[in-house]
Order: sequence, then C-alpha cells, then structure tokens
Amino acid sequence: MNPLNHVAIIMDGNGRWGLKYKRSRNAGHKAGLKTVEKIIEATIRNKISFLTLFAFSTENWKRPKKEINYLFTLLENFLINRIDDLHKQNIKLQILGSKKFSPKLNKILSNSEKKTSKNKKLQINLALNYGSKSELIEAIKKMKKNKNTITEENLSKNLQTKNMPDPDLLIRTGNTKRLSNFLLWQLAYSEIFFEKKLWPAFNEKDYNRIIKEYKRIKRNFGKI
Ligand code: IPE
Ligand code: IPE
Ligand code: MG
Repeated sequence: MNPLNHVAIIMDGNGRWGLKYKRSRNAGHKAGLKTVEKIIEATIRNKISFLTLFAFSTENWKRPKKEINYLFTLLENFLINRIDDLHKQNIKLQILGSKKFSPKLNKILSNSEKKTSKNKKLQINLALNYGSKSELIEAIKKMKKNKNTITEENLSKNLQTKNMPDPDLLIRTGNTKRLSNFLLWQLAYSEIFFEKKLWPAFNEKDYNRIIKEYKRIKRNFGKI
C-alpha cells in the first residue's frame, strides 16, 4: 500500500453548482466552504500530514469584481471565526501565492500563519493568488541572485513548497481535466484523479474512495 503524506486538491465547480441549485455562483462558493471543512476533518482522520487547497489562482482576477469580493469576504470570515479552532486542533496554516489583497485580509492571513506556525498534526497550504509559472520564475530569480547552481534540488528549495514533500495525490473536482497553472513542478510524479462531481457535492465518501484507489496503484517512478 502506498504511503500518503500529501494531498493536493483543485476545488473546482462551485460556480456551476451554485447556478444549478441556487441560481447564484456565490451560493456555490459558500457551499464549497462547507466541503472544505468536511475534507479537512477527513484528512485528519486519514492521518495525512499535508493538504494543499487551490482556492484562488493568479488567473482568477479576470472574474467579475463582485465574485472576487465575495470570495475574499468568505475567506476573511472563515479565518476570523475558525482559526482558533484550527489552532486548537494542532493545524498549521500556510499560504502559497503572493499576499496582495486588502490590508485587512493580508493581516488576517499573516496572523493566522504566525499563530499556527508551530503546529504539527496537519499542514494546510492554502493556494491564494497562486500561479505555478510565477512561482517558478520567482524561484529562478532567487537562484540567480544567490548564485545557486541550477539543480533540481536547488530549484525545489527555492519554491514556496520547500520543506514539504511533493503531493502524492492530486484531486480535481468539477469534471474538468486540466491543471490550470497549479503546482506544475511539484506534480511531476503525482497520481491524478479527475472527479466528475462539483466541489460542493464532493464528500468524505468520495474522498475515501479515491484514497483507497490511490493506495493500490503501482507507482513506478520510472522503474518496472
Ligand atoms: C471554484 O470553482 C474555484 C474558484 C476559483 C474559487 P469555480 O468558481 O471555478 O466553479 P466553476 O468551474 O465556474 O463551476
Ligand atoms: C482553478 O479553477 C482554480 C481554482 C480551483 C482556485 P478555475 O475554474 O479557475 O480553472 P479554469 O479557469 O477553468 O482552468
Ligand atoms: Mg472553475
């Protein structure tokens, strides 16, 4: 059985779910947050150490302002209400991507990271204003500045995901089969599951089914 240390999820399908059941994309984002809570609990139950959630891409700024504002207000309220509880559960929160939001949200994010930085049970990486290509460019710039030799190891060490294993498993919900500029380097050898269900409809049973299937895969890493 394959060990499972790191799960990454592209949480896609909120808008379509919201339009279908509530006639509003934003209602889908709200429902999607409930799935986030359930999946965090299930991740702990499965004794997984790292969970990376793609919540907002560098490309998502192209969406209507009203939707962007709704998403960030949702996140703000979530952190204000839930960070103490996450901290009590020994969960560490780390943001991937560049924190270029309102001063208020930037502060809430930094404080949440600081507060939980020593926690050990589960690390949640929230990818926010994250784009893999820009992460790679930043890493290469740093290597150049520090006159690092160009090696795979050095590049990995200059990414925002330094100090964590690469994802073993990537799940994308929402019936779309693409990576949308997510963790291009880190997913080089991950097992990928594209799930038909929209994110708000995704549940612990679906998650556990994928984990079970993942554990049985023969991971070759080039060998036979
Ligand atoms: C959620 O799904 C992902 C975010 C960018 C917040 P979408 O909002 O992309 O939902 P669909 O794909 O339009 O249904
Ligand atoms: C990817 O979903 C980003 C997140 C889940 C945050 P999108 O819905 O933005 O991806 P595309 O635009 O359909 O590729
Ligand atoms: Mg989408």
